[in-house]
Amino acid sequence: MKAAIDRAQKYIDEHAPKVREASMRQRYHFMGPCGWINDPNGLIYYKGQYHLFYQFNPYSAFWSQMYWGHAVSEDMLHWKQLPPALAPSESYDAHPQGGCFSGSAIEKDGRLYLVYTGAANLGKGLEQTQNIAVSSDGIHFEKYEGNPVVTAPEGVAIDSFRDPKVWEHNGRYYFVCAAQREGRAQALLYRSDDLLHWEFFNVLLESRGEWGYMWECPDFFQLGDKWVFLCSPMGAGERTTVYFVGDFDYGTGKFTYTSTGEVDWGLDLYAPQTFLDHQGRRLMFGWANEWEWMRYWKDWGPTFREGWCGSFSLPREISLGEDDMLIFSPIAELNQLRETPTLVNSMKIDPGRARSVKAGDGVAFELSFSLDLEASESSSVLLSLRKGAGRELTCIFDLEHAEVRIDRNNADGWGKGVSSSPLSLRGEPLLDVRVYSDQSSVELFVGNGTNVHSMNVFAPSTQNGIEIAARDGIAIVQDVRGYGMKSIPAA
Ligand code: FRU
Repeated sequence: MKAAIDRAQKYIDEHAPKVREASMRQRYHFMGPCGWINDPNGLIYYKGQYHLFYQFNPYSAFWSQMYWGHAVSEDMLHWKQLPPALAPSESYDAHPQGGCFSGSAIEKDGRLYLVYTGAANLGKGLEQTQNIAVSSDGIHFEKYEGNPVVTAPEGVAIDSFRDPKVWEHNGRYYFVCAAQREGRAQALLYRSDDLLHWEFFNVLLESRGEWGYMWECPDFFQLGDKWVFLCSPMGAGERTTVYFVGDFDYGTGKFTYTSTGEVDWGLDLYAPQTFLDHQGRRLMFGWANEWEWMRYWKDWGPTFREGWCGSFSLPREISLGEDDMLIFSPIAELNQLRETPTLVNSMKIDPGRARSVKAGDGVAFELSFSLDLEASESSSVLLSLRKGAGRELTCIFDLEHAEVRIDRNNADGWGKGVSSSPLSLRGEPLLDVRVYSDQSSVELFVGNGTNVHSMNVFAPSTQNGIEIAARDGIAIVQDVRGYGMKSIPAA
């Protein structure tokens, strides 16, 4: 593996400088040094640093044979890229259309263990197996000689058995992974005493078809007195990343859920992974892209011309809200990036007379306000972002139909689609809205983080207007706060 990592690192050193100068690169969201990235993997706080691994093809800005990229950080804002942690090198993970697929990390006796999927042809076609790699310094990993540690059980499709998420409980180890049996999605639960020898425990949860045919990147964790299962379902239409909240029994290995929801309603959030940090926070990063609509358009966006593709969502903290709904909040550390604040206490917007709003340079910014639902009379309120040269990304707060939508059909001459989510207004007097915009993305948090939409926008920096408009009556917005967001130098 060392030779493959050294070769990749040489290529990265040669190509990262060009990507550092790229005009569409994100200014404060996580990106790889060059090439293609997808899922976040192996998130962990280990020996005083946050470690972020990711699905990585250093050699081109398209998906191909997968490596694990690796970066570390003290604050989840400034990242230092390290050499790839895993490279395809063995019979079980070295296929050109396979490699080291998604997985997770855990610390045991001071050492860092990665549990990942190897995708290769072992004689029966493309096959996915679960494997282990270990490191003592958190930088250099060795693959376990007993790999693969788990192969697909009888009846599970060998090319649909992947993405182990590992955790420890009372000195025992568990992982949940995605599987497909007879065309249906299952989350399989395994257990082990030493992280090396695993036994099948139970089907944690399964779909009867209503939740698609495969659950990529499952995640499972305790939150308060509840348990949460997250996954990215394939074949579930516009549902791209969902959660289930319920109860889990270590005696049977069964999860039963009582509520479900969407992790993100936008078009660009997939395969999120969570971890518990040293402050006890349940944190999540997601891949700011999505397979299905991208495939439909047969195009991954214009950034490939600059030698890169893919970035991550902002880290979000997950907490449990009313009725067992999940709340996703941008991490508090992000406030350190704020600069050039502007504050307007209250704005009255007359129908047909949009008002412009100031937040940084209109490209990399944070903007928040409260929509006064009692005083506003308009049936909908429109927030235009990245406006200029006849284009804009439009956020629509449709109060008549209790819906939030983001329309990007006219945002950048490339992306298409409208995302929408129902709004639970429940007689609240105010609707809180928070936007994080970066060079090539917008993340909208509405209703205290219960309604999140992530969307990519590949627009030039000159498209930087921000406006609020009311459709057919006045709208009142309060506490309008805008900040520029500091750029983070690529490392
Ligand atoms: C999700 C996914 C995973 C797989 C990885 C391969 O985006 O398809 O299921 O492990 O990407 O890169």
